[in-house]
Amino acid sequence: MSQNPSNNPRQESAAQTDEALLSKHVPAGDKAAVRGSGIPNAISVAFSFLLCFAGIYLDRYAGDFSAKVYNENSRAYAASALPAEPKAFDMVAFGKKQFMSACVNCHQATGLGLPGVYPPLAGSEWAQGDEQRLIRIVLFGLSGPVTVKGTTFPGLVQMPAFGEVPGGGYNWTDRQIAAVLTFVRQEWGNKATAITEAQVTEIRKAVSRSKPWTIPELLKVK
Ligand code: HEC
Repeated sequence: MSQNPSNNPRQESAAQTDEALLSKHVPAGDKAAVRGSGIPNAISVAFSFLLCFAGIYLDRYAGDFSAKVYNENSRAYAASALPAEPKAFDMVAFGKKQFMSACVNCHQATGLGLPGVYPPLAGSEWAQGDEQRLIRIVLFGLSGPVTVKGTTFPGLVQMPAFGEVPGGGYNWTDRQIAAVLTFVRQEWGNKATAITEAQVTEIRKAVSRSKPWTIPELLKVK
């Protein structure tokens, strides 16, 4: 910075010393007053206390700025925002899940099975027929030959047991079996009544068997 303040008015003020600027703009008697003016001590002390208090207050009561902390000013939930009543159990949807987890491997998602090996469930007289026989097929399995929609399946592969049978079976619950059959009886254009859990329970209790059914045996069941 220049040590020789210039009197040239066009010279930039920033290039002059503080002393030079002060003597140019303030009358000699007021210089001391200008120097001493600043924030009064009392106010700076008051502000320090205020900051300190604010910090402690936030630390103690801000609840870590979590939205979950109780807010006395928030409004109550509207009725529509509350969770709805739990829906009734959907047997068909549950049955579809069961079908997709097991039956689909053989009978296919189309319900058409595979020619010569797995018979169709779509349009099947067994699937839509007598409930006593149908539940028995799924609980204990079936060993062909079986004729479905005019085609005979020789029984090269057996229909597995989904109930509890000695040495095997999927060990499905009555509800799983009722649901899968209800699904099968209403899917792919099939039209038959639902199967209830109670119907399956009743047959499971009444019948004790360790072998899959054959068609001649099933035809005796009324
Ligand atoms: C491992 C393959 C396989 C699986 C898995 C399977 N099935 Fe079968 N199913 C068969 C075979 C094979 C037959 C015919 C019996 C035979 O040929 O011995 C059959 C026959 C049937 C029949 C009687 C015939 C007809 O087409 O209507 C029904 C009903 C049936 N199955 C339902 C089901 C249901 C429901 C499931 C799932 C819970 C299922 N099957 C899982 C292979 C299978």
